[in-house]
Formats: sequence, C-alpha cells, structure tokens
Amino acid sequence: MPRSLLITGASRGIGRAVALHFAAEGGDLHLLGRDEAALAAVAEEVAAAGGKVHLHAANVTDRAALQAVSARIPQLDGLVAAAGISGVTPVDDDSDEADAAFDAILQTDLTGCWNTVRAFAPRLGTGGRIVLVSSVLGRFGVPGYGAYCAAKHGLLGLTKALALELIPRGIFVNAVAPGWVDTRMAQTGIAAMAQGMGLSEAEARRKAEEVVPVQRFFQPEEIAHGIAWLLNPANTMQVGQCLNLDGGVVQA
Ligand SMILES: NC(=O)c1ccc[n+]([C@@H]2O[C@H](COP(=O)([O-])OP(=O)(O)OC[C@H]3O[C@@H](n4cnc5c(N)ncnc54)[C@H](OP(=O)(O)O)[C@@H]3O)[C@@H](O)[C@H]2O)c1
Repeated sequence: MPRSLLITGASRGIGRAVALHFAAEGGDLHLLGRDEAALAAVAEEVAAAGGKVHLHAANVTDRAALQAVSARIPQLDGLVAAAGISGVTPVDDDSDEADAAFDAILQTDLTGCWNTVRAFAPRLGTGGRIVLVSSVLGRFGVPGYGAYCAAKHGLLGLTKALALELIPRGIFVNAVAPGWVDTRMAQTGIAAMAQGMGLSEAEARRKAEEVVPVQRFFQPEEIAHGIAWLLNPANTMQVGQCLNLDGGVVQA
C-alpha cells in the first residue's frame, strides 16, 4: 500500500536513500532539508522512480518553520528523522567556536528531533511509525565527540519516552544506530581522524573498518533497508527500541 512519509535530512546521504527506497511504492514522500537545490535534485530521482514528491526547505532547529510545513500536510503514515550534523568538540578547546559547535550539534541532532516529532506526530494516526536516527556514538563514547555522543545518547532516551507516550495512540517510536555509513558526514569524520592521527584518509578509513566485525563501511541504502523494516506496518513488536545497523560493533 502506498504510504505517506516525511523524511528529514532528505537532501543527501541516509535520508535520500530512505526516500529512494520508498519511491517505487508510489506514495507521498515529503522531503525536508535546508538546501533547496539539493532537495530538488533528490526529488527528481524520487519522482523518476515513481514517488509523489513534496519539497520542504526548512531547518529542523526552526520550530515555527516545521509547524508551517506540518500545517500543509493532511496525513502521514511515517516519519524518519535523519537530519543531523557532526563535528569534533574537544573539551580542552576553550574557544568560543567550540561552544558554538557544541550548541549547534545538540540543537540539530537532539532538539531538532524533538522539534520534528512535536510538529509532525499530530499528522500520524493509529499504526503510524516514527524512526529517529541515532548512531553507534549513541551507544558508546568517543574522545573529542562529546556533543555528538551526548546528542545521540540523548536521542535514545527521547525514543524510549516518546515511545511510551505515543503507543496509546497506536504510534510506534523506535531508533536506529548506524555505524560508519559512506556519506558526506563519514567522509568529513575520516578526514578529521586522518588529520588527528597523521594518516592519509585511505589509511584512516582502513583503521576505522578494522574495528567493524564485518570490516567495512555501509552504504546508505543498507541503512534505509533497516529503517524500512521498522516502518513496516507488519512490525508491531518494536516499541522504544534501538536497532543497531553497524555490522556487529555493538551487540546489545
Ligand atoms: N554517516 C555515518 O557514518 C552516520 C553514522 C551514524 C549515524 N549517522 C546519522 O545519520 C543521519 C544522516 O546522516 P548522513 O550520514 O546521511 O549525513 P549527511 O550526508 O551529511 O546528511 C545530513 C542531512 O541532514 C540535513 N541537515 C543537517 N542539518 C539540518 C538542519 N538543521 N535542518 C534540516 N536538515 C538538516 C542535511 O541537509 P541540508 O544540508 O540540506 O540541510 C542532509 O540532508 C544523521 O543524523 C547522522 O548523525 C550517520
């Protein structure tokens, strides 16, 4: 059955892959991100694959903008909150920029998801599905990534609380925790790691892959597959849980 889905962070990476995963179903796909031109390029791909596309250029930190988008959408079956940013925030960096980076990551990755659920949950009815995109850095700490780890751990707490609040309305809230996924975010992370360790980017990537039991990065399409599993109406048992999509890094 064609479904109506809203996807944040749809202009590239994992959000784009989720949109393309569902395009052939022919449902309404609401794509949200800040970069209008990038969203339009994804919209063309999704429409070519059979989806009915609706573009929403908005920032997830802007509550009023999200509410305005929500007012234009009659009904949703699912919501995927994939918008996010990353970056290093070492505790010893005493610059104003470090504090600004910390605030921006928390506001986008944690408060942004809260804003998204607040704006769009009223469009979901019984059987609705919400998936919040956390990370393996929501499962363990990494030095230098205090803001990102705090946001992604916080997202799992938010998932658990929202799941219990919304299940009486028949709405299922869950999270996914991907490992390394081949997107712009991961490329930036590898570049930072290479610089910090005095390695080439290829060497840094190999080091990152070595700690993954399956020894590789994932493609955004593989993460979309896991998210689609949680969005499937046949899936009625996951409530407030986190699905690890990391090739065996976290086994709990
Ligand atoms: N790549 C990985 O290795 C990895 C691993 C674990 C978890 N994740 C998580 O997966 C999610 C998607 O990341 P990705 O890898 O696909 O990264 P990406 O390629 O950098 O894409 C990030 C997306 O988020 C959007 N976005 C960022 N800030 C936004 C804001 N304030 N308002 C609206 N949209 C915003 C971006 O669009 P605009 O620039 O157009 O706004 C873009 O569409 C993130 O939550 C990330 O933390 C990624």
